[in-house]
Amino acid sequence: MTNIGFIGAGKMASAIITGLNQEQFSVHLSGRNVEETQKTAQALGVTAADNHADLIQISDIIILAVKPSVVADILSEYKTEKPIVSIAAGITLADLSTMTTDTQPIVRIMPNINATIQKSTTGIVRNAHVSDDVFATVKAIFESVGSVHELAEKDFGTFTALAGSSPAYIYMFIDAMSRAGVLHGMPKDTSTKIVAETVAASAEMMLKSNENPWTLIDNVSSPGGTTVAGVVSLEQNNFVATVIDAITATIEKNNTMNK
Ligand SMILES: NC(=O)c1ccc[n+]([C@@H]2O[C@H](COP(=O)([O-])OP(=O)(O)OC[C@H]3O[C@@H](n4cnc5c(N)ncnc54)[C@H](OP(=O)(O)O)[C@@H]3O)[C@@H](O)[C@H]2O)c1
Repeated sequence: MTNIGFIGAGKMASAIITGLNQEQFSVHLSGRNVEETQKTAQALGVTAADNHADLIQISDIIILAVKPSVVADILSEYKTEKPIVSIAAGITLADLSTMTTDTQPIVRIMPNINATIQKSTTGIVRNAHVSDDVFATVKAIFESVGSVHELAEKDFGTFTALAGSSPAYIYMFIDAMSRAGVLHGMPKDTSTKIVAETVAASAEMMLKSNENPWTLIDNVSSPGGTTVAGVVSLEQNNFVATVIDAITATIEKNNTMNK
């Protein structure tokens, strides 16, 4: 059985471990505080290591699930030739190489918060030292919490905006629509549930039909009808340009973070 060691026992590590098939993987955890880590490990049904050195010793693959600002400190203190997987936003393979050895196998991952419900949309890229077997294992780990997209590293910033940060923008859209429901007299919780269900089903429809979004928009816009009135209003109020600006701002921030 492959031993997977997580350094960092926060939200993302817990979400990924919750989805992992523990008949396939033996999972170990090492956080900042030993007592807290033991509690988290017990709740997740995995083993807590006493320290990072012990965790690295027993693990075949080490997943760094700490905040980006902590990654360099950990990698400079704990040296290993074993494959390292980083989920830290904004830290590139080249950055990680400067913190390790010239031949360190490194996989860079960008999951999203939907890992909590095993529906992460995850980006993945590896350096030249990662074997096909190790890469397949890392993919399998993240496939257990959703879908995995192999990307060119130059696209990681864009992926971070479109999948990592976008849940916040989608929540904003849902909140704006449900607030409109409140404005027109509907209770907020009812309104939010209606909008969230409609967003989830519309996304499912788009994925299942494989249609271009504009075709689906045209399909629900009857001539002279209610929907086209709203579509035109969104256009007049720069909906598309506003969304594109938000994604561009996210990418620009990603490109300057940790630099
Ligand atoms: N959350 C997301 O939606 C998301 C999406 C994509 C990528 N990520 C990436 O995932 C990583 C983890 O994010 P998160 O949301 O899981 O953060 P988090 O909940 O704050 O978890 C980070 C954990 O690392 C622990 N830690 C701090 N210093 C440590 C050390 N020296 N050794 C071991 N553990 C240490 C923290 O412990 P204390 O609390 O005791 O300090 C905390 O439990 C980040 O790099 C982030 O960029 C997150």
